[in-house]
Amino acid sequence: MTIQLSQHKFAILVLLSFFTTLSHQATPPNPRLQSAYFALQAWKHSMTSDPRGFTSNWYGYNVCNYTGVFCAPSLDGSHLTTVAGIDLNHANISGYLPEDLGLLTDLALFHINSNRFCGTVPKSFEKLGLLYELDISNNLFSGDFPSVVLSLSSLKFLDIRFNRFKGDVPSKLYDLKLDAIFFNNNQFNTSFPKNLGNSPVSVIVFANNNIKGCLPSSIKKMGETLNEIILENVGLSGCLTPEIGSLKKLTVFDVSYNSLVGLLPESIGNMKRLEQLNVAHNKFSGEIPSSICSLPKLENFTYSYNYFSGEPKICLKLADKDDRQNCILDRPAQRKVAECKAFYSRPVNCRGCAPPPPPPPPPPPPPPPPPPPPSPPPPHKEHWLPPYGYNP
Ligand SMILES: *[C@@H]1O[C@H](CO)[C@@H](O)[C@H](O)[C@H]1NC(C)=O
Ligand SMILES: *[C@@H]1O[C@H](CO)[C@@H](O)[C@H](O)[C@H]1NC(C)=O
Ligand SMILES: *[C@@H]1O[C@H](CO)[C@@H](O)[C@H](O)[C@H]1NC(C)=O
Ligand SMILES: *[C@@H]1O[C@H](CO)[C@@H](O)[C@H](O)[C@H]1NC(C)=O
Repeated sequence: MTIQLSQHKFAILVLLSFFTTLSHQATPPNPRLQSAYFALQAWKHSMTSDPRGFTSNWYGYNVCNYTGVFCAPSLDGSHLTTVAGIDLNHANISGYLPEDLGLLTDLALFHINSNRFCGTVPKSFEKLGLLYELDISNNLFSGDFPSVVLSLSSLKFLDIRFNRFKGDVPSKLYDLKLDAIFFNNNQFNTSFPKNLGNSPVSVIVFANNNIKGCLPSSIKKMGETLNEIILENVGLSGCLTPEIGSLKKLTVFDVSYNSLVGLLPESIGNMKRLEQLNVAHNKFSGEIPSSICSLPKLENFTYSYNYFSGEPKICLKLADKDDRQNCILDRPAQRKVAECKAFYSRPVNCRGCAPPPPPPPPPPPPPPPPPPPPSPPPPHKEHWLPPYGYNP
């Protein structure tokens, strides 16, 4: 009944807008705006609730007057007015994205954050060759990673955080020329991709997914480009390796709420632009390197809920630091001595995230011919010693 009624209403609106257009518009809209009209009407028709009335003026061919629709001259030299942007942020609309949206071929921005859209990104989005920013965050999208975004050749900004996507994140994502990737707060279940370091992003947020494993060593390739990486609560394990210090343009580094162990690498002191550092809620141990607390721009260093055994005095001078619940003598709010003793009685296990062991020695050479007297000193035999705590 409701559906019939709304279809009926829709038909009337279309008819009304048709006549309005006939009477007000001397010339028919250009073919691009006509396609946009069909796309937007199909979308409006798919909506089941629009509590704030964003689409209440979505009728008539003059789509450039619709709330949240932005027009601009086409970029292909045809001087046609086209729909270049959609911004329905915070509209709280429920519905889905129909395939017809692929008709909006001039779209550069598509922002629909904080709505209740469900389903996924339609396959037809592959036709949006000019799409530069895609923000579908804070909706009810679900299913696998929306792989159609991998075919958007102009895409720079991808924000799909706060949805219900699950499964794998395709590693091809890191080969794209994106500037920002947000996919935090979904249900992705995957491991860190070996090619992460191929990504030229300045910002990447993985937080609150189930990613698991070690940071790939390719991350050091992001040294010239990466400004912010948020790895909070993703299932990181093992040790941080010294090469993390190659990320010298980082301003924000957050690995909190993981299972990282071992020492904080001294090389973090090479991240000269670092402002925010959060390593809280892991199992780091040993002394905090003073190189870190001496970083010139460090404002906020949170290292609570670990097993650090000491901190240089300079750390206590930081404007904003949190050292609670560690094993630091003479500091307030530390762990119980017994808890610290128990922790330090076990060796650190980097779980395969330590630098890889050197390659196996070459096979022994064939036995040398009988040595002429006097015999030379016996060749020095080299044994590989595993690094401290390395437990293959
Ligand atoms: C578009 O909206 C403006 C004001 O918001 C109005 O003056 C104008 O007539 C509208 N154009 C059409 C074709 O409806
Ligand atoms: C969105 O709409 C739903 C249903 O009308 C309502 O329950 C919810 O509070 C709204 N959310 C916001 C943020 O306005
Ligand atoms: C996540 O992946 C692991 C193995 O890759 C699997 O054992 C587990 O069941 C998965 N969890 C979910 C919620 O899919
Ligand atoms: C410092 O960082 C922690 C962890 O990210 C945060 O909870 C805290 O609010 C920050 N402090 C300030 C003053 O921004």
